[in-house]
Amino acid sequence: MTETIKLMQAHSSVRRFKEQEIPQEHLNEILKAAQMASTWKNFQSYSVILVRSQEKKDALYELVPQEAIRQSAAFLLFVGDLNRAEKGARLHTDTFQPQGVEGLLITSVDAALAGQNTLLAAESLGYGGVIIGLVRYKSAELAELFKLPDYTYPVFGIALGVPNQKHDVKPRLPLDQLVFEEEYQEVSVEAIEAYDRVQADYAGARATTTWSQRLAEQFGQAEPSSTRKNLEQKKLL
Ligand SMILES: Cc1cc2nc3c(=O)[nH]c(=O)nc-3n(C[C@H](O)[C@H](O)[C@H](O)COP(=O)(O)O)c2cc1C
Repeated sequence: MTETIKLMQAHSSVRRFKEQEIPQEHLNEILKAAQMASTWKNFQSYSVILVRSQEKKDALYELVPQEAIRQSAAFLLFVGDLNRAEKGARLHTDTFQPQGVEGLLITSVDAALAGQNTLLAAESLGYGGVIIGLVRYKSAELAELFKLPDYTYPVFGIALGVPNQKHDVKPRLPLDQLVFEEEYQEVSVEAIEAYDRVQADYAGARATTTWSQRLAEQFGQAEPSSTRKNLEQKKLL
């Protein structure tokens, strides 16, 4: 196994951090690694807002009460961004029509790839972190806090810092339920129940709900309207 693969297979999210900074040169290297992720047509349709001031982290925590935000040495907000695209496109055309599903997929996939590079690069330097997707439920408030212009929206954040906790690696689905030879195969309900048990064993006393209960919480009801409303306001829907 290579060192890279070992690092990737050892990943686990870190949500508690020591009161220790990440030096600027480390942040630069992490962000330069992030930037090298593949990106649709090299459009680089995302931006990153680096939050280091405790004041701003606390303001964000008020909106999204996740302890990792408040404790992080650096919080990186990944923004889906077609604002640059508008400026480039308008050099050549009077019409700019980014609204719709493709624009959202292009920007969120680009942001996600850069985000994953960020986390792995940080982990390779001994830092830990967690992706915070809950920022989306407060999209409009974040747009105001971070002065996000038209054609931009928060996709997720990453809280980074020196780890103050270490969890075992969280077991994933068996590979044959996720990777199919040549054509798609629907998994059985028994397989889902078996994975519920694997997850329950892993979480032990920390478990409050099962994996499938969390699926029900997420998808058993209509999505929150706040994400869509903000995308409409930012002219992306
Ligand atoms: C898009 C996305 C959003 C996430 N949002 C949150 C979040 O808001 N809060 C949180 O504690 N973890 C969040 N996570 C972390 C996941 O819960 C975590 O990656 C998953 O449970 C697997 O655990 P592991 O990363 O420790 O292997 C998010 C992960 C992703 C990919």
